[in-house]
Parts: sequence; structure tokens; C-alpha cells
Amino acid sequence: MPATMMDGTALAARVRGQVADEVAALGIPIGLATVLVGDDPASAIYVRRKQEACVEAGIEPFHRELPGSTSQEQLLALVAELNADERVTGILVQVPLPDQIDEAEVIRAINPIKDVDGFHPTNAGHMLQGNPTLLPATPAGIMELLAKYNVQLKGSRAVVVGRSNNVGKPTALLLLAQHATVVLCHSRTPDLGAVVRQADVVVAAVGRPEAVTAAMIRPGAVVVDVGITRTDDGLVGDVARDAREVAGLLTPVPGGVGPMTIAALLRNTVRAARYQHGMLAFPGG
Ligand code: GUN
Repeated sequence: MPATMMDGTALAARVRGQVADEVAALGIPIGLATVLVGDDPASAIYVRRKQEACVEAGIEPFHRELPGSTSQEQLLALVAELNADERVTGILVQVPLPDQIDEAEVIRAINPIKDVDGFHPTNAGHMLQGNPTLLPATPAGIMELLAKYNVQLKGSRAVVVGRSNNVGKPTALLLLAQHATVVLCHSRTPDLGAVVRQADVVVAAVGRPEAVTAAMIRPGAVVVDVGITRTDDGLVGDVARDAREVAGLLTPVPGGVGPMTIAALLRNTVRAARYQHGMLAFPGG
């Protein structure tokens, strides 16, 4: 029996509606600054979608574009300016950044209370200790999608493929917090198929098209596909298309995780503004 598709587009639309209602009810200024460095076309599209979602939710957009030749000092100066701007309650620096930029240093420069990506070590540390603040948007969106489809995580075996700081590692931690037994796989994992075949829940976040094949999926497993790569055959996920003949529940590409990332970003943006307006306590300060 083919898998049931987890409709991220529909759930994200609902979340965005809720966020818009919340923004209207709160009546505080909420502004999201997006920073795009360079001219990567895919990044430009992602950032534009984030800004459009902001406007639709009643969040004020502040968009800044810098050339690909921008220096570390110039980017740090912009982050400092946005940290100091009270109208800006959320800051998102789109990654990847050009090679001359030290990405980790830029992320550390963002005031953690404005870090709507949840990438700052302060927020990552709170998440590690089970004290959620601003969670990275893609993992948070995945968790909301799994909850919506009543996926039982407690006692489940979850396998995450991909160990990035932004997706793989935080997703593993959030699954662990929901009492799944988590295995985190990566490019050096021997016999990936044998490990993935153990999983009740698979999260594929390697950024390599069709890295997870149908033969690796246990029949009936829940499969979350984070990958999105443009090929001559269109957009391809990290999970092979025929996995839908084996999985029980599956996220489509596009229309699965992607829209949920934007919805989770909006939730974070409101949360960050509430911290800054003293409506919610930010851990440690
Ligand atoms: N690049 C791809 N996804 C993301 C994201 O969620 N946040 C940022 N800042 N950059 C990204």
C-alpha cells in the first residue's frame, strides 16, 4: 500500500494563520531582519519566501543584501547594527555564507534573544539540556509535522541521516527529548542500509539526492525527507521516490518539510519578540 503523504503545505498554512492571529492580538512591534550575502539563486528564493511569509503574518520585514565579496568585519558590523535596532526583534543570516566568512563567528555575534534560527551556541546549549528556547526551524517544523500525524515517538527507534549543526544534530536531540531511541548516521556510517532498516522513523538530511533508497526502508516506517536538490528531472529529495511504495507515512518533496521550516521560523520570530517585550522569560537573561 503506498504511503500516506504528510502535507506540510497544509499544516504550514494553518500555522501561519495562527501566527498572524497571534501577532495581531499581541500588538507589539515584531520585525524580522533577513541578511543575504552573495547571489546564490536558491538562497535568494528561500529568503524571499521568508520575507513574504513575514508580511502575510503582520511581521515587519527588514531585508539586507550584501555582495559576495563582503568581509567578515562588514558582516559583523551589520549584525551589530541589527542587534542594536529595537524595531528588529529577529535576525536571520542566511547560510551558506561565502568562503571568506567565518560562519560560526557571525552566528555567535547575533544577540541570542534575537536568534530566530536557534543557531547561536546559547540557544543550541539550552536545547541540548532540554530547556527549549528558540529552536532551529527545520527540526522544529519536522517535530510539529510528526505530532500532527500522531507519530508515536516514545519507545520508537529513530534514525537520522546527516549530522549538520542546523538539521541533523538538533533533530536527533528533539527526537530524543520525545523519548525515541535515536541513532545519528553520517557519511562514515558503515552499512547505512542495515541501520536505517531498523528505524520506525527515518529523517533523511544529508543533502544528497536519493541517498536513502526504498530498500533501506522498513515497510510501514515514517520517513521525513529534508533534502531538496534541483536536477534535470526536477526537485529531488534525499529519499528515493519509490520509497513511497514501502513507507507508511512520508513527506513529499516539495511540500513537506520546506513549508514547515518557514512556519516554524514565524513562530520563533513571535517568541523572540515576546522575550524582548518581557512577556516571556528568556533563560539566563
Ligand atoms: N539555509 C538553509 N536553511 C536555512 C535556515 O533555516 N536558516 C538560515 N539562516 N539559513 C538557511
